[in-house]
Amino acid sequence: MKIITIVGARPQFIKAAAVSREISKRPEINEIIIHTGQHFDKNMSDVFFEEMQIPTPRYRLNINSLNHGAMTGRMLEGIEPVLLKEKPDYVLVYGDTNTTLAGALAAKKLHIRVVHIEAGLRSYNMKMPEEINRILTDRISDILCCPTDKAIENLKREGFEHLPCQVVMTGDVMQDAAWYYREVSANKSNIMNELGLAGEDFLLCTIHRAENTDDVGRLTNIVNALNEIALELEVILPLHPRTKKIINSMNINHRTENLKLIDPVSYFDMIELLKYTRMVLTDSGGVQKEAFFFAKPCITLRDETEWVELVDKGFNRLAGAEKEKILNVYHEMKDEKIDFHVDLYGNGQAGKNIINTIKNHH
Ligand code: UD1
Ligand code: UDP
Repeated sequence: MKIITIVGARPQFIKAAAVSREISKRPEINEIIIHTGQHFDKNMSDVFFEEMQIPTPRYRLNINSLNHGAMTGRMLEGIEPVLLKEKPDYVLVYGDTNTTLAGALAAKKLHIRVVHIEAGLRSYNMKMPEEINRILTDRISDILCCPTDKAIENLKREGFEHLPCQVVMTGDVMQDAAWYYREVSANKSNIMNELGLAGEDFLLCTIHRAENTDDVGRLTNIVNALNEIALELEVILPLHPRTKKIINSMNINHRTENLKLIDPVSYFDMIELLKYTRMVLTDSGGVQKEAFFFAKPCITLRDETEWVELVDKGFNRLAGAEKEKILNVYHEMKDEKIDFHVDLYGNGQAGKNIINTIKNHH
């Protein structure tokens, strides 16, 4: 069986690592990776292939830094000839980026079966490019691998049981990755020493969502809130290049010494920071879940989330992008004792479940 995996953005490398590891145990499956090039800095791309030992991409399309239409269009154009040449049995796409939609659409138009991993998630905010990408990808997928019960429910509500596709609860591949790599990251990462951190004396933050970075008011409010929190506890902020460009060009004040802006870190570094941070503040989808995997309270710098079960259970609170709201939620959560012993994302076997589903698919 031949599988083509299409990735391009940072979280997809981490998700694909979990599934590729499972594929590597099955000699009857030949996996070929296409990297669209959406993310291209070394610490946004190559570092993940190296440290997680993901198979080297056979095809690199180098398509990035374009508006949505141009990026998605050029990806379609680049992916199609590869699929025509390789004639895979299945194409695997992950999450909700432009790479995801382009990969699914290119394959579906060629009548190649599409497997969407992380299917069924919804924010119900149609202004988000991710919401558009995931809805369209779900609709044209043949196998929809859902990470949560809520995702299954969302698809049922949209009538997917009446469509000619298979919807399956597989669990979350990011949990597979976190559980597997947390055993090896300590020996491979030196980030705690490099940053002079000891124990739970810092907060970990990431910001990159368009809704925050493309709105100077929201981004300024978030940074102001972080400046204030940093007076109390050091904040480590590995900055996505998108956010870095905007903070620098807008001269947004981030001068509190304890608010440390650093370059994006590797996944192993990220795991170590997650292990020791006291709390997480983020607008990332993946990092919200990782906060939970590492039993850390999470403040989400958005107005809604696809990972609603985290909010329902009190592990995560939505603070949006208002300074006072962020500070209030921070003060409410910082001393809370939360019991994280609940299974929300499967048992770390999502990769295996996905591959078994594909093998049994007709
Ligand atoms: C993309 C996804 C988003 C996902 C995120 C993960 C879409 C619509 N958005 O957002 O869902 O959460 O990836 O990180 O697909 N840049 C660099 N170097 C890089 C990567 C990006 O400089 O290695 C710059 C680009 O030149 C561009 C900006 O960052 O100017 C945004 O990159 P883009 O891939 O368009 O979107 P992300 O914000 O990364
Ligand atoms: N991540 C990383 N280094 C960083 C920031 C994030 O390795 O400097 C990892 C993070 O641990 C998670 C994934 O990248 O596994 C999330 O990606 P991102 O926040 O870019 O995208 P999203 O999940 O919001 O789509």
